Order: sequence, then C-alpha cells, then structure tokens
Amino acid sequence: MDRQTQFSISRRAWLTALAGATASAKPVFGAIKPDITLRFSHVVAEETPKGLAANRFKVLVEQRSGGRIGVQVYPNAQLYGDHDEMQALQLGAVDLVAPSLSKFGRIGLPEFELFDLPFLFDDLNAVRRITLGPLGQKLLQGLPRQGLVGLGFFDNGFKQMSASRPLLEPKDFVGLRMRVQASRVIAAQMRALGARPVTLAFSETRRALATGVVDGTENPVSNFWTQSMHEVQSDLSLTEHGYLGYAVVTNQRFWHHLQATDRALINQALQEALTFANQIADAQNDQALQALRQAGTTRIHRLNTGQRARLRQAVQPVQHQLASRIGPRWMKDLEQALRQA
Ligand code: LMR
Repeated sequence: MDRQTQFSISRRAWLTALAGATASAKPVFGAIKPDITLRFSHVVAEETPKGLAANRFKVLVEQRSGGRIGVQVYPNAQLYGDHDEMQALQLGAVDLVAPSLSKFGRIGLPEFELFDLPFLFDDLNAVRRITLGPLGQKLLQGLPRQGLVGLGFFDNGFKQMSASRPLLEPKDFVGLRMRVQASRVIAAQMRALGARPVTLAFSETRRALATGVVDGTENPVSNFWTQSMHEVQSDLSLTEHGYLGYAVVTNQRFWHHLQATDRALINQALQEALTFANQIADAQNDQALQALRQAGTTRIHRLNTGQRARLRQAVQPVQHQLASRIGPRWMKDLEQALRQA
C-alpha cells in the first residue's frame, strides 16, 4: 500500500476520534462512556436497507450491553468510501464495513462476483439459497485470506438501469458510458450490451451523471432515490437484471481480541439486524419507487416479457466468459445450490 494511502488512512483514524461526536444516531445510553466503541463505516444513505440495518445493530448492541459497548455509524462515505474502506478495515482504522458483494473481487476474492452474474437469480428466495446456505458460508470462509472475518450477508435487492433515454432493448445501450462498481462481471455485462463500463466510487456517481462524465448507471431504486440520481437522470428502466447485496466484514485481529461474551453479544445483534434488513429491503425499494413516481422527475419504464428476454439473451455470454475468473468449482457449486428447491 502506498504511503499516500497509509497517510490518509492514519489521518482519518485520527479524524475518527475527533469526528466521533458527530457520528449519526446519538448514543442509546446518553452519558455512559462505552468501554468499547465499534466504528461502522458505509457508503450509502441512512434511509436504505443498509443504513437502517446499521442503525438497528447500533441500538441492539448498546441496549444489550447497557451502554458498555457503543457503535458509531458513519454513513454516506463520511469516513471511508469505495476506494479505501477495505484497506482501512485491514489496517484496523475502522471495525466494521458492509460493502456490496461486487467489491470483493478487487481485494482478491473474485468468487464473490458470482452474485453479479446478470439474470442469475429469479427472486430473493433464490439469492438466499446461496447467502443463507452452505455456499454462502464457504464464501465467507475465504475472508481470513485477507485478514478479515465475514459475519453475514444481507440484501438490498434487484438493480434497475437509468440513463437519459429508455433502456428497453440491447440496442438502446450502444455507446453509453455506464457507471459500474469495481466488478469484472458487471463490466462484461455492460460491454455485452455495447455500452462502455466506467468504474467509479458510489459517492462520485451522482456528480459524474450530473456533469456528463457518465450517461447512466445501475442500482436498486433505494440507492437511486436516496442519492437523488433522479434529479440528473430522465429515464429509469425497471430491468431487474441483477442483484445487489452485502456482506458485513470485520478485522480478524479486532474480532479475535474481543472477549467471547462481547463477541457473542455483537454477533447476535448483527444477525438480528441482518434479518431485519432482509425483511425491509423490498419495502424500502418499493417506497423509493413510489416516491420517485410522486416526484415526477423521471420517466419510469417497465419492460415487457419480450424486451426482458432479449436483454437476458444479450448478456447470457457473460456467464461463460467470466466462469474462469469466478472459478469452475464455485460455478459448479452455484449451479447445484440454485437447482436445490
Ligand atoms: C454501488 O456502489 O453502487 C453500491 O454498491 C452502493 C451500496 O453499497 O449499495
């Protein structure tokens, strides 16, 4: 890691202490100074499945520990963003992050990009056969390779496409510069549609759309709405072409240094917060779509069966193209897990 990143992370670690008081959601236990404070950084807004899950986790931990364990949540990439949150976690400058599953490939875990394969999952139940099943556990077992511990998965939901024109047929994507997460699978998906993938941090996306650096992007509606992307995108096409989900990750050294009782309390609170997130994810996206309709700034297009089938066919080759990156063993396990009813 270059000195500049090391410097910015250690400077930020200092800022953490300073910024502690400004963290979102006031301590549940008023004036009690916690013995341990967990720093939980994420890149999205609070009114999203991830934002609400992080705050629920905070309340549960602080209540159950009687204020002895505090949680400071830093939403909206206030502290760390897509570029440095994983490194900050590996350095111990933060204790918990919940990146999208699309962001694990670039830290040496390309198997996580299986979640990005377009049109792979018919619904969230199919996703949960992976995330809440043995294959999900196997994926999390790879994290210690990077000095991390995976604590669990949760959903946001299915992604839609936005641009300054309707995206109903593969030809509509040709020549567009589309913002994507740092995933080779998603980049290949955009290329298969004739678009140019542009990898950008989430926090930079709205500005890049507003300034014309990119023409469009993909995300579930809860992210689209809470980042006010509707103010700079005239058309949202409900493609439901891919899944966006998360894994909560902590630093291995930090986790193993916790007392066993504290680790159990924190983990129990987290599992409940993740279940809560999966319960509200759909509703959060529906509410955002409703709000978008009411705002009336963006035309909303539903694809008919034929249009969705043509889109699906156009990106079908991606699965074969990226199978070697994800890994033949993972692809085989995935197929098996999805086939199990
Ligand atoms: C994105 O970068 O588009 C998303 O992963 C952001 C998020 O964490 O939901």
